Amino acid sequence: MKKFQFSWRAALVASSILVSCAGAAFAADAPLSDKEVRTRADALLAKMTPEEKAGQITQYFDFLKAPDEAEKVSGEVAAGRAGSLLFVADAEQINRLQHIAVDQTRLKIPLLFGYDVIHGFKTVMPVPIAMAASWDPKVAEAGQTVAAAEARAIGLHWAFAPMVDIARDPRWGRMIEGAGEDPYLGAAFAAAQVRGFQGPYIGAPGHIIAGPKHFAGYGAALGGRDYDESNISDDQLWNVYLPPFKAAVEAGAGNIMSAYMGLNGVPASGNHWLLTDVLRKAWGFKGFVVTDAGAAADLKTHGFAQDLPDAGIRALEAGVDMEMSPPFSQSAFKTLPASAAAGKVPRKTIDEAARRVLEAKIRMGLFEHPFVDVEAAKRVLDDPAHREVALHAAERTAVLLRNDGDLLPLDRDAVKSIAVIGPFADAARDTTGPWIFNQDDKETVTVLAGIKAKAGAGVKVEYSPGVSIPARLFASIFESALHDKAPRVEVDDTAEIQRAVAMAKTADVAVLVLGEAQIMIGENASRSSLDLPGRQQELLDAVIATQKPVVVLLMSARPLDLKGSQPRALMNIWYPGSQGGTAVANLLFGDVAPGGKLPFTWPRDIGQIPLPYAHLTSHRPQKADQRYWNEPNSPLYPFGYGLSYSTFQYSNLKIGSERVAPGTPVAVSVDVVNTGSRAADDVAQLYIHQRYGSSARPVRELKGFERFTLAPGEVKTVYFTLRPEDLTYWTASKGAWVQDETIFDVYAGDDSTASLAGSFEVRKK
Ligand code: NOJ
Repeated sequence: MKKFQFSWRAALVASSILVSCAGAAFAADAPLSDKEVRTRADALLAKMTPEEKAGQITQYFDFLKAPDEAEKVSGEVAAGRAGSLLFVADAEQINRLQHIAVDQTRLKIPLLFGYDVIHGFKTVMPVPIAMAASWDPKVAEAGQTVAAAEARAIGLHWAFAPMVDIARDPRWGRMIEGAGEDPYLGAAFAAAQVRGFQGPYIGAPGHIIAGPKHFAGYGAALGGRDYDESNISDDQLWNVYLPPFKAAVEAGAGNIMSAYMGLNGVPASGNHWLLTDVLRKAWGFKGFVVTDAGAAADLKTHGFAQDLPDAGIRALEAGVDMEMSPPFSQSAFKTLPASAAAGKVPRKTIDEAARRVLEAKIRMGLFEHPFVDVEAAKRVLDDPAHREVALHAAERTAVLLRNDGDLLPLDRDAVKSIAVIGPFADAARDTTGPWIFNQDDKETVTVLAGIKAKAGAGVKVEYSPGVSIPARLFASIFESALHDKAPRVEVDDTAEIQRAVAMAKTADVAVLVLGEAQIMIGENASRSSLDLPGRQQELLDAVIATQKPVVVLLMSARPLDLKGSQPRALMNIWYPGSQGGTAVANLLFGDVAPGGKLPFTWPRDIGQIPLPYAHLTSHRPQKADQRYWNEPNSPLYPFGYGLSYSTFQYSNLKIGSERVAPGTPVAVSVDVVNTGSRAADDVAQLYIHQRYGSSARPVRELKGFERFTLAPGEVKTVYFTLRPEDLTYWTASKGAWVQDETIFDVYAGDDSTASLAGSFEVRKK
């Protein structure tokens, strides 16, 4: 069901950015026809040697901080044996390398520069899971439009994003990069981000190619351990894990990245069924497939390919078009010319892959405009309109989880002193989250800075970091010499907790900013616990014990376990990006009301994982909450949950027809009234449940949502349409997609426990 609220402010900023970037970032002035693109690619292919073709489908890391390796890579570029580079993110360096490709190689084929543009480039947007918590795909689209503009301005052509992996296990650190646990929400955010990155067509000025990843099933890593195998039933694959990818392909994504792990025993990057049968044949994907870093060579690691040449052949034959080469190690695709000469792999398969890569370069206008204007790029990176988009996004992403006695918004007349406490209160680098390398930390507004600026001179704001953040037991890949070291708070915990408590005692309110450091979440950041790292829990309990009003702001992308501690107010602020502190202050003081909703289920206890809301009913369902004898199985906060500074009531659920034939859409509407005393946002959510059919279906499935703002007393009717495809699913009983003749329950409200219900029947006659 497509029913997303149009956010005029974000759209306005985004469209003005489109216009302002048009001059700065050269690209094809209009979409080229498929025929023209192919003819030009074929003409080039006809001139290429086997080595040049293999080079064209090889992408190298170019870490400028590793000069020896960088020199080797430049050598490969000069020899015409590299088609693409990643990790160079500087306009001058990109121009320098592009000059090598264009001026020194025989065929003058420009390089395609790819990068992890995950949630912003210089301007940092809230992390992707936060964007999903806005339940406003326009916000994500606007954010990626800005990210694309900045990236394109400095010479990048392609983002390794969006990550559209469904994540139902919060131990998996990469859940931060996706849209959470739900395929419907995930599909909406996948498509929105592709639109944001790519604009109206591949090659549109100021835009870059989107590379949805990691195809497919990476989020189901065994035990939530990053890179470990996924074992996913066909039912779950088709109905849960694949829909966001399909939506991204339908939105026109020009690239797909194949995943690291094995899917049901077959490594994703050597999985012909995934990369060819599903992606190309069933979905008609026309772009190029890149492996994750080193994932082709990894086919040998998996015990799947015999050796490196075999790995190259099997990745290529499965449907990979470009190898993202393992850093500092040998590329598998480099061995392809020898394999072709020995008759082990058809030359036309290599040609096909090379053609797809060349086509991407042609569409991006690289042959006409290989270089960027360094001065113009600086202006794009400093565009104040980009900061506006980041601020607006951060304001819309926060999720209010508790607000006892309406502590929030803070009462400006009563609050004259604030104790801002916690290791993340003034941590610029953590505020921007992981996957950020090109930000200016001085530009980031921390929560402390945001509160100080907002509170003004009449309010005393004191600060204590409270406790240190411990180092990880095992260092992250991002803590290597190749990346800048992020600062971490180090204090004498015992003394600092005492200082923080003393501060809280004399303040009117304590605001605690707790959570996980950015290095503790993301890739290579899985965790076997949901506890607050270090002595944060002790700090929290000590401050609560002062009996002062306590607001906890969680900087987190997974559902952390506060061990039953009950601050008066609790708001998940995610990693809110470079304007995060301003957004948080605006929320705390009520300039804007929180309207975000959880894109995942928040368990009480790590032992409940996985706990998706969309589970099946089974034996003794009346005791479903007592599956464990020691604690209830219900979540602490359900999927779709989030409070507001106002209250909303849902009524008058109307279903267009009591009975419809298969293939017929069903209209649904519900009335919402703002019953509180201030204007605020809510998200109307529509869930269905199929009572019986070819498979047992989840107790609830999201099939529509809309975020809106209502003035006090204002009533709105929200209209949804359940399309036939919303009532269709893949059943293992037939190995096929079906729309059953059955009865559907329909629920509407503002979280997944909505009680307003109706039903309709699907029957042929
Ligand atoms: C590995 C990650 O899995 C992938 O998401 C990323 O795009 C590449 N490295 C490149 O940095």
